[in-house]
Amino acid sequence: MYSLLIQSELGALMLFVIFSFIAAGKASKLIYNRSERQLYRKTRKLIFWSVSLSLLAAVMAAADTMLAASSHPLFWMDRLLVRTPLALLPVLLIWFYSFPRLRKLMHRTRGRSENALDVARRRQSSDPAFIVPFQLAALCSVALFYFAFVPPIPFHWTAVTMPATLLLFVACLQWMLQSRRNQLAAEVALVYRPWRRRLTHTGLLLAVLAVSSIPFLTAMENSRLPETLSMMSGKTDYGIGARSSQELAHAEHHHTGASTAAGTSPSIPVTELTGPRTGIPDRKFTLTAERKTVALSSGKQVEAWTYNGQIPGPELRMKEGELIEVTLINKDIEDGATLHWHGLDVPNAEDGVAGATQNAVMPGETFTYRFVAEQTGTFWYHSHQNSKTAVEKGLFGALIVEPQEAAAGPIEDITVITHNWRGAGMSIGADPSVQRKAVAPGTAVKLRLINTDDWVRQSYILTGAPFKVTAIDGTDLTGPAELEHHRLELLTGGRYDVTFTMPDHPVFLRVGNGHSLGILMSKDGSGDIPERPEVTTFDPTHYGTSPADVPFHRDSKFDREFMMVLDNRFAFYNGGFAAYDTINGEVFPNTPMFIVKEGELVKTTIVNRSSVEHPMHLHGHHMLVLSRNNETVSGSLWWSDTLDVAPGETYEVAFRADNPGIWMDHCHNLVHASAGMTMHLMYEGVSSPFEVGTATPNHPE
Ligand code: C2O
Ligand code: CU
Repeated sequence: MYSLLIQSELGALMLFVIFSFIAAGKASKLIYNRSERQLYRKTRKLIFWSVSLSLLAAVMAAADTMLAASSHPLFWMDRLLVRTPLALLPVLLIWFYSFPRLRKLMHRTRGRSENALDVARRRQSSDPAFIVPFQLAALCSVALFYFAFVPPIPFHWTAVTMPATLLLFVACLQWMLQSRRNQLAAEVALVYRPWRRRLTHTGLLLAVLAVSSIPFLTAMENSRLPETLSMMSGKTDYGIGARSSQELAHAEHHHTGASTAAGTSPSIPVTELTGPRTGIPDRKFTLTAERKTVALSSGKQVEAWTYNGQIPGPELRMKEGELIEVTLINKDIEDGATLHWHGLDVPNAEDGVAGATQNAVMPGETFTYRFVAEQTGTFWYHSHQNSKTAVEKGLFGALIVEPQEAAAGPIEDITVITHNWRGAGMSIGADPSVQRKAVAPGTAVKLRLINTDDWVRQSYILTGAPFKVTAIDGTDLTGPAELEHHRLELLTGGRYDVTFTMPDHPVFLRVGNGHSLGILMSKDGSGDIPERPEVTTFDPTHYGTSPADVPFHRDSKFDREFMMVLDNRFAFYNGGFAAYDTINGEVFPNTPMFIVKEGELVKTTIVNRSSVEHPMHLHGHHMLVLSRNNETVSGSLWWSDTLDVAPGETYEVAFRADNPGIWMDHCHNLVHASAGMTMHLMYEGVSSPFEVGTATPNHPE
């Protein structure tokens, strides 16, 4: 619904721009008509343009009103308060001022001859009250275009006043020019000189471009990221909190300028926020990052970046409570590499973000991570250095933490990690086809679904047996009910655990919507791939039963509340100008940095105003999803580390600030993250000595 509304609004806006310019041109040229007959014809045509413009304005106003009726103010404040009036105003003026004059003129010229225009007609056909509303429509359409692509969000009148003043100024100018013409027309018959007119218009356009190019180029140049930049240089955002305004003012004072949150003393550097540095590890892994050409099972070759020469990297399995030691060796990945444990809330220094918690590990270097695996479930690991390219090329793998007590009875535990190998297709692991597995009837089967792929809303459909979703993002659900005819969908970084009991007939896990990718399980691995059934998409908001103890809920008293508005707009970024996906109207490093204190209960409202989905990933914490579109989540607790926020959706999430450090919070559609859709969660009293930028090896995204 949301997408439909904003798309129709945008479509209407585009047509409004085109139509209003045509109408303004036609209206301005009425005066040049040679005969009354001609004037009559041209005047009559303006009715068509007036009606069209009105219809388009009505579509825009209706879309805005419907949004206002159904969603959070952040979706429509700017639309209803700025854009709707901008569309309606010129149209109203056309009907109130232009239309009566238009009718009068038509009346006077109807059936007239080839007579040239007399003074009265000349005055009437250049009357500013008749012509300027059409010109104003064109002017407003430009303003509408501007506000659509540079939305004043979070809504603030200051973002509106400048463009509005400019608009008013140009409108006055139009009025004056038209009045002058009107006077001239009374004296002489104006002659239409198309070339002169075109020249004037081009000259005017060039002048406007020349004048505006100066601030434009300056802004572009100023947006260049500095050669070195502290990850802590984001704009501090303290949220709305329990702290007194005095405290807040004090904190603000501390954090102005470049030093930001590091200013609070004494500060602990993230390098001290490590896992256990001593003690014999229960399990050790070595991952060597290296380039390698790897063949998929289809025979297609992938120029990959690998851990240990394989894609995906080896699956790391461990048991809850174990002390884990992983040594990363970078053999020849020139861009550098790290290891980030996606979804595992490890101590900050082990989080593996280049430029925030460590330096990128360059060729020939090694880095050792040590942490206790405290959560059980399905996670994954990936490089967080140039992560967009690194993950795309293969620097990732599954990470499974098993509970200490193994389940009773036979169990088949299958990891389904999906990835699109560029040029070689969508695959499960490195297999772009249907895999066949022999599974004895009665076996408890667990499928661990992990989507690692950018830009894909991956769908998984299980047919042949009722199943349960037992975990989301590595956290078990309570009382999950059996499902059938459901499609599970994951955005990048998300995970679902699915369990079912193997029946004595085949079961098929379909990945995507076709027939060519999936896992067919049966007694002996044979059997036909079933037709795709009718399915509805699984929705976690009311699934399972609510547990006895709930750590916090929607009505809890939160120590701090943040607003996160996801949008798309034109912006300057690193010396360029293009459409960017923004957080609170900005791209990194101008995105906000949420500041929290250890122990606080923090709520964030996430609003997606854009037209694409954003899987928002917070490092180091799991967010409890409280509500979606103002509807309280019920049933099992739904903890997420990678939340799929679709266009038009509003989520309230909350977490306990119990893991000090500097944590990335970004869209896991890594194309967006690498273009600046990233921000940080920062604990007071923590500092990071690491930097990003061209003069450093660190490029986390
Ligand atoms: Cu899976 Cu910041 O990443
Ligand atoms: Cu995104």
